[in-house]
Amino acid sequence: MTFDFDQVFDRHNTGSTKWSRYPADVLPMWVADMDFAAPPVIVQALQKRLEHPLLGYSVSQDDLREAIVADLWNKYAWRVDPQALIFLPGVESGFNMALNALIEPQQNVVVQVPNYPPLRHAPGHWGLNKVELEFVAQADGTYSTPLETLRQSLQGGGALLLSNPHNPLGKAFPREELLAVAQVCLAQDAWIISDEIHAELCFDGRVHIPTASLSPEIARRTITLMSASKAYNIAGLKTSFMIIEDPALRARVNHARCGMVDSVNPLGMEATRVAYSEAAPWLAELKTYLQANRDYLVDAVRTRLPGITMNVPQSTYLAWLDCSALGLDNPQQFFLEQAKVGLSAGLDFGDQHQQFVRLNFGCPRSLLEEGIARMERSLRHLKA
Ligand SMILES: Cc1ncc(COP(=O)(O)O)c(C=O)c1O
Repeated sequence: MTFDFDQVFDRHNTGSTKWSRYPADVLPMWVADMDFAAPPVIVQALQKRLEHPLLGYSVSQDDLREAIVADLWNKYAWRVDPQALIFLPGVESGFNMALNALIEPQQNVVVQVPNYPPLRHAPGHWGLNKVELEFVAQADGTYSTPLETLRQSLQGGGALLLSNPHNPLGKAFPREELLAVAQVCLAQDAWIISDEIHAELCFDGRVHIPTASLSPEIARRTITLMSASKAYNIAGLKTSFMIIEDPALRARVNHARCGMVDSVNPLGMEATRVAYSEAAPWLAELKTYLQANRDYLVDAVRTRLPGITMNVPQSTYLAWLDCSALGLDNPQQFFLEQAKVGLSAGLDFGDQHQQFVRLNFGCPRSLLEEGIARMERSLRHLKA
């Protein structure tokens, strides 16, 4: 490996969201932020950018747009017009803008559960009716979309807020399922708001499928949201982009900023340009490292954490752990207090019975080993 993903950085007192929530004796494995240094090419590019000491309001330049559309073509064989991009200070802003612009009060917004909490909360921000659609657990440990319930929920139009690849299930939608889901939306004249922030992080040779790349008809009903923030670990730079191919629809959504969604910062745009044009070797090694972490975790859960089960994440660096066999009222609290490991509570993702926790394995192996060892010890005490 050319890049050192084993290096552990002390992130205390850096203002890191992840490392500020809990006391210093807790190992944080919650928010989707990895404990790896950003790609060296990005850090160097930012240092160079700062040699020009002006940091005023900024707009995207052609080279940024070109870098993104070239990357979309290289990674997913998806041709996008550079003018189809709208830059935003966050994917979350983007899906909220799309809901505000497109959905009528009497229409439903469908969110599959479990799901990323801000996706679950977004319809409520606009007084819209949310329908939570449970994934169906399959015998092979994967999850699928109940198409008929989706169809019924979208009667009268509305929108599907899709997480593709899916947080927290780590599900990379197979083409047939994604196509079937999109066709249901089309048949109901519903919009597809497709959050693809984890697109790059698919494992086992899988390639992400952008929803809008399925067909021109689907593209016309789809708002895509992407960012370099997850894969290249630059989430704090708050730079993302929306892709809307139809110019009239793009203008409509772009007008829904409501004075709350501002322009993007110049460092974030530079980092994004470099991520897509120069950081491919880093990303390739990161994926290898993450996949090995995933395998380590899957094995550890199976052999060392009795009472916990998990599906094998096909993408993302997030694991959805089923703790129901432990018989705990609140597993997140148990692991926080007894193991000193800070996980995300399933309840926030729509797990009503509060029996799941989400673990972030995007960290140096030694931290993952430490987290698992702590959880293992706490379970031994639970049994004793
Ligand atoms: C599915 C998903 N969407 C959006 C976000 C947040 O994106 P942003 O920081 O660009 O608003 C996250 C972060 O964890 C995420 O997992």
